[in-house]
Order: sequence, then C-alpha cells, then structure tokens
Amino acid sequence: MDNRPVTVPEISGRKNSRKKITALTAYDYSFAKLLDATDLDIILVGDSLGMVSLGHENTLAVTLENMIDHTRAVKQGAKRALVVGDMPFMSYQVSVEQAVTNAGRLIQQGGASAVKLEGGARMADRVQAIVQAGIPVMGHIGLTPQSVHQFGGYKVQGKNYLDSRQIRQDAHDLQNAGIFALVLEGIPGELAEEITAELKIPTIGIGAGSKCDGQILVLHDLLGLNQDFVPKFVKQYAQMADSLKNAVSEYIQDVRSETFPAQEHTYHSKQGKLKQVNDGD
Ligand code: KIV
Repeated sequence: MDNRPVTVPEISGRKNSRKKITALTAYDYSFAKLLDATDLDIILVGDSLGMVSLGHENTLAVTLENMIDHTRAVKQGAKRALVVGDMPFMSYQVSVEQAVTNAGRLIQQGGASAVKLEGGARMADRVQAIVQAGIPVMGHIGLTPQSVHQFGGYKVQGKNYLDSRQIRQDAHDLQNAGIFALVLEGIPGELAEEITAELKIPTIGIGAGSKCDGQILVLHDLLGLNQDFVPKFVKQYAQMADSLKNAVSEYIQDVRSETFPAQEHTYHSKQGKLKQVNDGD
C-alpha cells in the first residue's frame, strides 16, 4: 500500500481513472486511525455527525465548533487519507465573507485539507471566493440534507426533466467556480452518469449509481452500526451493531458471575507487602 498522503491534485487527477475514488465519513480519532490504515482515499468529517454521533434529528443543529472539534480529532488519526471538513448549516449561507472566514477556520483550527459545502449555482460565489483564498472545495448537489425542509423530506432529486437540468447546470457552475470534486447525492443513476461524463472534475456518488468517478458512504451505515433505518443505496459490509450488543451482553454476564475479571486481569501485591504497610499504620 502507498503510504504517501493523498492530495487534492491526486483526487482531481483520478477523473476517468480505472482506480475509483473511495471515501467514507468519520467523526473521531479511533475510527479515523482505523480507516487511515486501509487504502481509503478520503475521510469526510461530514455534518452527518449531527445525526450519527450527536443524536440530532437532522444535520441543521451542527455548529462550526462541533465540526472544528471533530475534524481535529479525525486529523490526529489520519496521516495518509485526505481529510475533508464539512461546512455546517449557516456557516456559509449568509455571505461570501462568512464563507471564507469559516472555511479558513476548518482548515486552520480543524486541520482539514479541504472543505465541502452544499448547494449549486447559488453557492458558486462562495466557492469561488474560498478557492481564491487557497482552500480546495468539494461541491455537493442533489439531495443536499441541509435543505431537508425545502425538499419536504429526504427525497431523491432530479427525477423529472426540469429538475435534472437544474442539477446538471449546478454541476457546471460549481466546476466553473473551481471545485476539485463533486458529491452527487440521491439522484438517478442516469443523471449522475451524464454529469460525470460532462465534467472535467471527478464526481463522488452516494445514492447516485455506479457510474461516478468514486463513491462515499456514511461509515456507520457501512458497518451496520445504524439499525434505525437503512436507505436503499446503503450496502452493509458488517453487522457491528449485533457484534457490539453481543459483546456487551457477554461482559454483563461475566461481571455478574464473577468470571471477569479473571486472575490474568488482576494485579497482585508482593507477598506480605500489604501486611507490612498495615503494620506500619
Ligand atoms: O455529511 C455527510 O456525511 C455527507 C456525505 C454523506 C456526503 O455529506
């Protein structure tokens, strides 16, 4: 395995490569370290943090401070994979100045190598300004979770002709604004294939079929840690929720039956030492 750090130019250069881009989310040091020990290209500190780790109903309550803290933790564990920090809701929508300042904080304080933000044509001026500040930006269009209320739920986008044309236009506008890669979420596979063929930058799909230049998933979905709801586009590569519950149940049984801790888990005093200490009291 190549242990050199993955760079933004390397990701851009993987357009149409036979080696697809692989990306997963992570939110803490331990998982980031485990992912970094594989050949994974990108670790996204996604604002899905809000739902996966913080227990919020959606991603809207996630703050920039949350993202900075978790990005820093991930960065401590990831020395090889490219770490991308997600810009949370209301950290870039207000103005171009706000967007550049907050993207800068994710890089400076969080240690990310790039930022991701949601939205198409409407966000092109923010993207351009952040890129001009020297910060690489990953775009994100289609089913953008920060617009959940505008969409009226987590619904697949771009299913009709007019919507699909808008998403295609968004992709081109973001490319022109300078993004180095584009996440396509929750759109028909045919549309993702068309956009991927038209763009010069790589696309990374989630619920967007197999024809993108790469794929991303939420780590907890892939590991089967999230048992509440499994979307159609998720493949569970493990059933870690079951393994975790079994391990904890076994631990509870062992503690209650005094099987744990056993002799090998127990420290012992030198013979007589405790007695001597007591004698000296
Ligand atoms: O927040 C997130 O995890 C994301 C990915 C799923 C693309 O935006």
